[in-house]
Amino acid sequence: MKKKIKFLMDGLEFEADEGTTILQSAIENDIYIPHLCYNSQLKPYGACRLCLVENAEGRLITSCENQVEEGMEIKTHSMKLNRVKKMLISLLISNHEKNCLSCTQSDNCKLQEAASYLQVNENELENLRQSVKDVPRDESNPFFIRDLKKCILCGICVQVCADIMGVNAIDFGFRGYDTRITTFGDKDILESNCVSCGECVEACPVGALVSRNSLTPAREVKTICPYCGVGCGIYLGIRG
Ligand code: FES
Repeated sequence: MKKKIKFLMDGLEFEADEGTTILQSAIENDIYIPHLCYNSQLKPYGACRLCLVENAEGRLITSCENQVEEGMEIKTHSMKLNRVKKMLISLLISNHEKNCLSCTQSDNCKLQEAASYLQVNENELENLRQSVKDVPRDESNPFFIRDLKKCILCGICVQVCADIMGVNAIDFGFRGYDTRITTFGDKDILESNCVSCGECVEACPVGALVSRNSLTPAREVKTICPYCGVGCGIYLGIRG
């Protein structure tokens, strides 16, 4: 049986098994800490830094990489944390595609969730988006679409492809601002050694990899109603 560790998070006392990371224990206790590159099936990677927490000495540490310690005191939010995280998320959003409303991942997107938690408002988002990368969508695969304009370079897809599937079809490529996830020789995904397992699509925290199925509307609406376009038929007297 694992030793139990007692610690304070936001002034409340918690207990966790030895070896549990701060982020894992926050998730288990329904405390939200923004996180983009964490995936419970993968080794913590520490890429996005959005999961930072503040320890008793005022140091900011990543909660996905650091384990809870006996007597530890951590804050998941503070002015200092908020300032740093807002800057981090602003940098991510600055070159991210801006069509959240029409994105199939809307309401299921970790970037959107974190931006809303950190109170980055719509106007700020608009001002922040200045230089969306000019990378064409890769629609070569019959099962999923890759849209690198929405990629946040969290690296989860690369790790899933290599460490879980052992395929290594994708990796980080290019440098600096041009860094992106690519295939060997920067070919379309269909021409790479991708086996279309869909694991990367499942794990993507934003809308950079989406299944073609998710692009199909839940029902087809045929309406000439000028009222709202939902197709209920009430306005035209087709239905009561
Ligand atoms: Fe911890 Fe990204 S979730 S650094």
